[in-house]
Amino acid sequence: MKKIMVTGGAGFIGSAFVRWELAQHPDLHIVTFDKLTYAGNLDNLKDVDPARHTFIQGDIADREAVLAAAEGCDAIVNFAAESHVDRSILGADEFLETNVRGVYNLAESAKTLGTARLLLVSTDEVYGSIESGSFSETDRLNPRNPYSAAKAGGDMIGLSYFSTFGLPVLVTRGSNTYGPYQYPEKVLPLFVTNAVDDEPLPLYQGGEHNVRDWLYVDDHARGIDCVLRLGTPGEIYNLAGGNERENITLTRRILELTGKDESLIKLVPDRPGHDRRYSIDATKAHALGWKPEMDWNEGVAQTVRWYQDNEWWWRKIKSGEFRAYYARQYGTVK
Ligand code: NAD
Ligand code: DAU
Repeated sequence: MKKIMVTGGAGFIGSAFVRWELAQHPDLHIVTFDKLTYAGNLDNLKDVDPARHTFIQGDIADREAVLAAAEGCDAIVNFAAESHVDRSILGADEFLETNVRGVYNLAESAKTLGTARLLLVSTDEVYGSIESGSFSETDRLNPRNPYSAAKAGGDMIGLSYFSTFGLPVLVTRGSNTYGPYQYPEKVLPLFVTNAVDDEPLPLYQGGEHNVRDWLYVDDHARGIDCVLRLGTPGEIYNLAGGNERENITLTRRILELTGKDESLIKLVPDRPGHDRRYSIDATKAHALGWKPEMDWNEGVAQTVRWYQDNEWWWRKIKSGEFRAYYARQYGTVK
């Protein structure tokens, strides 16, 4: 591959993927195509070499813009999405537009251009919650919130283009991802940055013991790279972190690392339809040669340190659009 298009590459995981690809593949050129929604941020790409990277602001639901940007690319890797569950509960229009229609548009565009690979970055949330054991790629989908339902819709429309038209579509389904440059609406950066400011950590009451499987962002980027290059078209690959933790465990680790005490924990009303546990089996991706490498304790420590050292990155976010969202989502958390 000489040139690939990364949609949603100005977001959290997409920007880590761009950095990873450019570092690993010296002859590669990347076209990042991103709408720059509230979650898109060119600061995330500040260190990439402009000689090997082109940025285009655009919407994946805009056919003409996608066709123009994807022309001549050997692959499209899609990270573009509305990605936050709580926002999808407040209103899901944009989730349907981007996560379903946008993916349909990418598939149509790839079909028109004859793009060699279309990789759709998806999520373990499409399987829903599981009490014991882990979901494999052939398990039935059971998304339980508007975000994950829209992601499942995108997966299905994409895979239908493989069955119907032979379009070389691949799907990855990753676990909860953590690391630098994550928009501070997600639990880990929200709790770290609130703790730094001695603000309450709004832990969902009743969800303290809910379990998420944590995957370090560079491990996730490596997994997507592996599937892009070695995966079989038409197939789905789970990318698990192998680090299942209760939310209260993560919260306590953040407090420990920031030197704050448990009085900062504030139990707030639970997320409606809060999935209790996510767990996926990544045997199929392991067979391609991928395995996550980051130790959870070390990864969380490094991540907390990054937010402590990079207030320039998150303070301007938290003083912008974020404030209105926070007030709407949490009311006055005292
Ligand atoms: P993010 O919210 O940080 O970034 C999303 C990016 O997509 C932003 O840069 C945004 O500007 C862009 N975007 C949104 N709508 C667009 C549109 N219509 N056209 C073009 N660009 C658009 O998200 P993230 O956490 O980096 O997640 C990336 C992908 O990985 C998503 O598809 C998400 O479903 C999936 N995923 C995320 C996680 C996680 O824990 N964060 C885990 C598994 C899978
Ligand atoms: O599992 C993969 C998914 O992980 C991705 O597909 C999503 O894009 C990503 O946002 C993430 O979804 P979650 O809903 O699991 O992540 P979030 O950070 O929103 O919440 C993680 C857990 O923390 C969840 O059990 C809810 C809880 N939580 C979250 C927030 C924001 C709280 O207790 N309080 C909070 O304020």
